[in-house]
Amino acid sequence: MSSSLEVPISSTLQGGYFHPLLRSLQAERHLTKDMLMYPIFITDEPDAEVEIKSLPGQKRWGLNKLSGFLAPLVAKGLKSVILFGVPLHLQKDARGSPADDPQTPVILATKLIRKEFPHLVVACDVCLCEYTDHGHCGELRSEDGTIDNGRSVKRMAEVAVAYAKAGAQMVAPSDMMDGRVRAIKQALIDNGFGNRCNLMSYSAKFASSLYGPFREAAGSVPDFGNRKCYQLPPNARGLAKRAIARDVDEGADILMVKPTLPYLDILSEMRTIAPNHPLACYQVSGEYAMIHAGANAGVYELKAMAFETVDSFLRAGATLILTYFTPDFLDWLDEDK
Ligand code: PBG
Ligand code: ZN
Repeated sequence: MSSSLEVPISSTLQGGYFHPLLRSLQAERHLTKDMLMYPIFITDEPDAEVEIKSLPGQKRWGLNKLSGFLAPLVAKGLKSVILFGVPLHLQKDARGSPADDPQTPVILATKLIRKEFPHLVVACDVCLCEYTDHGHCGELRSEDGTIDNGRSVKRMAEVAVAYAKAGAQMVAPSDMMDGRVRAIKQALIDNGFGNRCNLMSYSAKFASSLYGPFREAAGSVPDFGNRKCYQLPPNARGLAKRAIARDVDEGADILMVKPTLPYLDILSEMRTIAPNHPLACYQVSGEYAMIHAGANAGVYELKAMAFETVDSFLRAGATLILTYFTPDFLDWLDEDK
């Protein structure tokens, strides 16, 4: 007997994946178009179509340009969008009044999209930072500038109800104020939206360096200080797990981890903590910019890298992926890999 025959049969793996089809069969789940939610920036300049420099290929859209932009994507299979408002003319103030002004871009865009694309699911990000004059995600105590949690949470619930009234089928609080999921869920129920508006919580949102391009796009850089007293410290596995469990308890319908690639361990743990919920992850602006920058520097090929990241999200347990690559994936999923 030659020694090669003594190699245990179980050590031979390559027979399992020498063909593209066999490689594809190794995945527990594949990316499908339904899993993609596209983040869109809407401004109050009706004819705007403005490139966002740090987010290659992404633009700030005015209301008049929205249908023309979305129609081809819907035709390719776009199923959901999440809207972010970028008010350039509405007057910002301490309580973020433009967040639920009847003329605010997110409310107008929600109504328009629901009418023109009735099969598209519209989620609205709920936060105050794009709408407050100080740029923080909640209301502040006048004496010392710290977050006034009680007032912030009440305000967040008001804004969420305004978006639900405009037709949003999903509201997604991204502020990380304690108790906002319960307050929003209760307000949705009290206003008759308990069974027609989904609450997706940014449950484990970390104080990350990867939000820079978004803040440029949305004009939401805080005037002073930072967001470290409400967004989670990057090292805080325990806090993240507690935040996820808390949001389950407070009635979130979908739970999210954000950013994604540096927090895959948290996404994977979320599956254990909340085995009965859809799990979302947000591939944030800085992740998108980083993948583009690497591709431009010749480090890798853009499409292969984008798929590699998403495969990691699926392995970790994601069922919904918020990504600026959505338009690309709608094309790529129709191509041969
Ligand atoms: C607002 C909000 C942010 C993002 C989503 N909602 C920015 C922040 O918290 O500063 C980031 C999204 C991205 O970077 O793509 N609270
Ligand atoms: Zn915010």
